[in-house]
Amino acid sequence: MATHIAPSILSADFTRLGDQIAEAEAGGADWIHVDVMDGHFVPNITIGPLVVAAAKRASRLPLDVHLMIENPDRYLGDFIEAGATWLTVHQETCPHLHRTVQKIRELGARPGVAVNPSTPVETLIDILPFIDLVLVMTVNPGFGGQRFIEACLAKVARLSRQLEGRGLQHIAIEVDGGIDPTTAPRAVAAGASVLVAGSAVFGQGSITDNIGAIRRSLAIQV
Ligand code: DX5
Ligand code: ZN
Repeated sequence: MATHIAPSILSADFTRLGDQIAEAEAGGADWIHVDVMDGHFVPNITIGPLVVAAAKRASRLPLDVHLMIENPDRYLGDFIEAGATWLTVHQETCPHLHRTVQKIRELGARPGVAVNPSTPVETLIDILPFIDLVLVMTVNPGFGGQRFIEACLAKVARLSRQLEGRGLQHIAIEVDGGIDPTTAPRAVAAGASVLVAGSAVFGQGSITDNIGAIRRSLAIQV
């Protein structure tokens, strides 16, 4: 699939969330990424279903909801009802991952599974046929604005080869953390098809220019 850019609203100005999402949509964003954190699986606490429902009303773009929470099974229904198009759970939080992803699909969303930098993508081999997206964390989850972990590029490349070898190229490979015009083309060269960017989109400067800069960086050979 053509490379998608998914701005993460974690770095948006929450006093103007609707406007910022609308600007991202007009500026060429493909999905809106929503980071849900519970203060248990990750140190930070962020967004719940109420804000997802508000984001849904602000845009027609697919909402890409990234659950960084323990026991996500309890909340799948709430986030899907709130408007999640894609719903991603962490491998590290799901002892019955197959049941969890089946439930996500049954409830009407597209299932994704995320892995932390220390979790090998090889742990996902047996779940791949049941999911539509793998999210490779390129920082440790919990905060925006962290530095891209270089070693994660090799994981993206390994995953990409696994998908090719198994005829599963329809599964999206999403990278999340430290994505900017320097790291984006390298992640795509390794096999990523969805780029999450928080601070590089909603930080300094205009949202439209920032999305444009990431898009233009993809034309550069790395
Ligand atoms: C981190 C979140 C990311 C975060 C990325 O735990 O999953 O989606 O918003 O932020 P940047 O792009 O600033 O690294
Ligand atoms: Zn995220």
